[in-house]
Amino acid sequence: MHKMTSQPTTAAAPLRLAQLFSARFSSNPRIFRAPGRVNLIGEHTDYNDGFVLPAAIDLYTWTAISPRRNNSSLRVYSENLGESSEIDLSDSTPRPRDYWSDYVHGVALMLQRAGVSVSGADIAIYSDVPSGAGLSSSAALEVSVASALLATSGQTLPLVEIAKLCQRAENDFVGARVGIMDQFASCFGSAHHAILLDCRSLDYTLLPLPAKVTMVICNTMVKHGHSGGEYNDRRAQCEEGVRILKQYFPAIKALRDVTLAQLESRDAAPGHQRIPDLIYRRCHHVVSENERVLQTVAGLKTGDLAKVGACMAESHRSMRDDYEISCRELDIMVDLAKGRSGVIGCRMTGGGFGGCTINLVRTASVSQFKTEIQSAYHQATGIEPEIYVSAAGDGVREIQFNG
Ligand code: GLA
Repeated sequence: MHKMTSQPTTAAAPLRLAQLFSARFSSNPRIFRAPGRVNLIGEHTDYNDGFVLPAAIDLYTWTAISPRRNNSSLRVYSENLGESSEIDLSDSTPRPRDYWSDYVHGVALMLQRAGVSVSGADIAIYSDVPSGAGLSSSAALEVSVASALLATSGQTLPLVEIAKLCQRAENDFVGARVGIMDQFASCFGSAHHAILLDCRSLDYTLLPLPAKVTMVICNTMVKHGHSGGEYNDRRAQCEEGVRILKQYFPAIKALRDVTLAQLESRDAAPGHQRIPDLIYRRCHHVVSENERVLQTVAGLKTGDLAKVGACMAESHRSMRDDYEISCRELDIMVDLAKGRSGVIGCRMTGGGFGGCTINLVRTASVSQFKTEIQSAYHQATGIEPEIYVSAAGDGVREIQFNG
């Protein structure tokens, strides 16, 4: 299906979810909504203590919730999958089951470990963030569930703690060693802004997106899988790079601390371990990508959109050749977008191995761009892409609905 300018499910979703909830659990829920995100630039830099530039998008996960009296379990229903699951909050040896409800379970567990006494509850979830598309459907699920569980347990936590515990749910329970970017963006998103986040200090700045420029997200429809596999391999390769570079530069704690000049001097000192070529290329991506995030921010601040476009193009090249996280369809989608009327910049976005490209397009050209890229991609691959035109949106919140 070719999605049109605004995401059609968004307005109707909470009302439908509330009705479904009431029919299923015979009570009226509160509803919490957390967005997916798109990353403008700064890929695989977050777990290297570096910089990222994501924005929350107008695709969401909604969690409807109502407490269960005298009961210590969560009954969870996924509207998308038509499946339910029960989670025992008093289980003393909780284990992931390699099932979607692991995200819910992991969040409940991390809330408990943070000292929150999580009440039993009925939960229904609906999401229009496509899964496996690099738009953080996992983080949107975690953050919306965390907010819902906190609220029904009558407790609050600072947003940054919510982001961190959702990351821990994924790291320590689900088993994907993701960084903080996605959960942070889902918590701190702000309408019309991108978020420049320093993933070491968690200091952030909201950066207005340029007027008359629109984010167009093109889904290759090739799905990635995240829990483990290639993603964790990349992370281990970065750690290996730091281990070797430390022999030359003992002050280094993460790739964030490494300059390109230091990386280039890698073979200079006799008697030290040489950095293998593969590790060198992984490090080169991360070190240069951090630099590109800052360059992009400078370009956005001064209105130098040509610089923004050049950084995005180089970022894609670096992910394709050095970090090796692109795929044929992503490369095709980027190549097809390049040079089209109104296109400022384009690159793959998110963890990689499939998913989406992010395109910054002059608003006046969006409609033509969509039509053209949709048909060009279909012609090149035989796959019908989905195109999402998204404003940068707000982070997690409870929503009021008229039910
Ligand atoms: C996934 C992870 C993030 C980040 C990106 C790559 O989305 O969840 O933490 O590492 O990949 O930039």
